[in-house]
Amino acid sequence: MSVSIVRTVAELRARIEQWRHAGYRVGLVPTMGALHDGHLSLVRLAKTRADRVVVTLFVNPKQFNNADDLAAYPRSEAEDAGKLGAVGADLLFAPGLDEMYPQGFSTTVSVAGVSEGLCGAFRPGHFDGVATVVTKLLLQSQPDVAVFGEKDFQQLAVIRRLVADLNMPVTIVGGPIVREDGGLAMSSRNLRLTRGGRAAAPRLSAALFDAAKRIAAGEDVDSVIAQTKADILAAGFTEVEYLELRDAETLAPVAKPGQAARLLVAAWLDGVRLIDNVPVSAQIYA
Ligand code: PAF
Repeated sequence: MSVSIVRTVAELRARIEQWRHAGYRVGLVPTMGALHDGHLSLVRLAKTRADRVVVTLFVNPKQFNNADDLAAYPRSEAEDAGKLGAVGADLLFAPGLDEMYPQGFSTTVSVAGVSEGLCGAFRPGHFDGVATVVTKLLLQSQPDVAVFGEKDFQQLAVIRRLVADLNMPVTIVGGPIVREDGGLAMSSRNLRLTRGGRAAAPRLSAALFDAAKRIAAGEDVDSVIAQTKADILAAGFTEVEYLELRDAETLAPVAKPGQAARLLVAAWLDGVRLIDNVPVSAQIYA
């Protein structure tokens, strides 16, 4: 059975108000739809932390810095609603553009520091768009807990910073990356890969895991990164935007892995931008 859908903030708040009266903890899972097992794992995780779970579906134009990318973003609301019903979500909030950004909308939320570099360097304005819409979704629903995927690792860091800086009374939980059999991180963008692209795509995560293991074993970070970039290009990727070792919390560059370093990559294949990241720690690879 499909999950029930509301399209206005008023309806969303009315439903959440009923749950609050019943004493329920509320969880939120923001998405842009085209749901795959990665998203569904976030819903399952939210269900372990809350009594009622709202999923949001809004393809947020403010976070796309390229009109073609926005137009090509996959949309499958009916199918998404079916999947959410099956996994036990309680409500789908799928507002239209006018509900989220009515005439005269003029506010931008901008998080400095963690939003700079990595994806922020290649997608100007992207994290302002994310921070703005996530702020709205959190204020519209006022959940106890909100779950975001670790695949968008920099996004998760931006949201954690935002919530801390603005004293928002919500716990942010990161859900682990879900991978396909060959290791490719699940993403709605994978749907846009050609057959050849799908065959080559798992080489990205393979290269990333291999690099993380070598760095954790003490190899020189710069040489591992240079070799790994070359391997990714040799696998058929047309560009590696970045491959960097960063502190897992602050996202500051690190020259050597500490307890919580993360290796992050963005690369283009088949005209599709793929991102991925893995933890780097001597313990994990021991
Ligand atoms: O990760 C996403 O799908 C989006 O960036 C989010 C968090 C739903 C905001 O539009």
